[in-house]
Amino acid sequence: MIEIKNVHKSFGDKVILEDISGVMETGKCNLIIGASGSGKTVLTKCMVGLFTPDSGEIFYDGHNMLEMDREERTSLRQQIGMLFQGSALFDSMTVEQNIIFTLDMFSNMSSKDKKKRVNEVLEKVELSGSNNKFPSEISGGMKKRVGIARAIVLNPKYLFCDEPNSGLDPQTSLVIDKLIKSITAEYNITTIVVTHDMNSVMEIGDNIIYLYKGKKEWEGSKDDIIYSKNEKLNDFIFASEFLQGAKAVRMLEAEGKIDKVTDIGKIIDEKDN
Ligand SMILES: Nc1ncnc2c1ncn2[C@@H]1O[C@H](COP(=O)(O)OP(=O)(O)OP(=O)(O)O)[C@@H](O)[C@H]1O
Ligand SMILES: [Mg+2]
Repeated sequence: MIEIKNVHKSFGDKVILEDISGVMETGKCNLIIGASGSGKTVLTKCMVGLFTPDSGEIFYDGHNMLEMDREERTSLRQQIGMLFQGSALFDSMTVEQNIIFTLDMFSNMSSKDKKKRVNEVLEKVELSGSNNKFPSEISGGMKKRVGIARAIVLNPKYLFCDEPNSGLDPQTSLVIDKLIKSITAEYNITTIVVTHDMNSVMEIGDNIIYLYKGKKEWEGSKDDIIYSKNEKLNDFIFASEFLQGAKAVRMLEAEGKIDKVTDIGKIIDEKDN
């Protein structure tokens, strides 16, 4: 579990994060959502120690990261897997070398064990046999999967995925989402996914924090979203008229004003006539 308390961060006189608190649960996909520029990446960078917050606290299973000494931080860093915004693979290295790079940095495994581990994680992300391909030879979805394989190679307790679906088609996005979800549950990882992808929110959003201009505007689950009356959240999630209509129908269902299947049929019939 990761708990953040009253995190503030500014760059110069520009306030980026204002008093953000929240709990990221173990074994769940915890989402940070919000429009471009709302502070999602800055918040995750504060959480993993790449930025230092101006004030606030960040607890990893009860231990305040901001009070850890160098040794404790290094050991925590080894328990964190990261899938960066844009995959961030080394173009001059093969898939295998990209993954082994992390093992070289943070483990004392023998070459044989490293190769074995690479094959295990490649199998996990359904990329067995792609060891010798270069990033330029594989698709965007495959690159994301290599990024995930690299992020989980050290068996992390905490996994951060920044925009795992950016640039992918909806179906490939769903494959990536389901992969992240199943890995999270299988290894009981505390997973944080940064996204502005509506499909991801509805597919894997166990716990969701919605940032609006650097503040926490709303939090809840994917089911809460359907029935939420928070206007800013609704404008963000249900941006199109089509989705606003779909949400309105769900609300009417929930309030018992229409019956699920028959009345929707009736609405369509009446509209057509
Ligand atoms: N290193 C930095 N120095 C100064 N300002 C920064 C820095 N990093 C981010 N910012 C600013 O912080 C704000 C939030 O940026 P952030 O990258 O967190 O947005 P985001 O929510 O991740 O957006 P996106 O969905 O586009 O990735 C932006 O106004 C950005 O310009
Ligand atoms: Mg970002």
